[in-house]
Amino acid sequence: MRKSFRIVSTALSALALIGTIGFSATAIAGDKKAENVGKKLAFNKKKGNCLACHVIAGGAQPGNIAPPLVGMKGRFPDKAVLRAQISDPRAANPDSMMPPFSAHGILTEKEIDAVVDFIYSL
Ligand code: HEC
Repeated sequence: MRKSFRIVSTALSALALIGTIGFSATAIAGDKKAENVGKKLAFNKKKGNCLACHVIAGGAQPGNIAPPLVGMKGRFPDKAVLRAQISDPRAANPDSMMPPFSAHGILTEKEIDAVVDFIYSL
């Protein structure tokens, strides 16, 4: 009983690993350029300045008043919901401290798309 459980869980881990490798290969081929543009915008203090509040992999001296941006595909299976959060966080939380990037004209719609592509890759 125990042994077969171990075999099944090993097989599942192997499958998950293969899935991850396959998925990253697709992501690299597709959205890598937009992700890089989005990363620059997210880290730029005069643009996204996301690091003022969020921990993001690769970002120096992050703040910690907001949730760390990791595992975003798991937390936001629907990319449109993630975009809505970044575009105007007041829809989800009227008292949000996060700036409404779109409504306040901090980022253009195109820039928000690039930031969303980057955040979705985390
Ligand atoms: C001034 C602080 C601040 C800045 C700057 C900021 N955020 Fe936020 N963010 C928050 C807070 C606080 C939350 C928690 C939810 C809420 O209160 O709206 C949040 C929530 C989020 C969430 C939802 C996380 C989850 O798991 O629910 C995402 C995604 C996000 N922010 C992305 C960004 C991105 C991308 C940027 C930069 C373009 C950014 N934030 C800039 C404060 C900030």
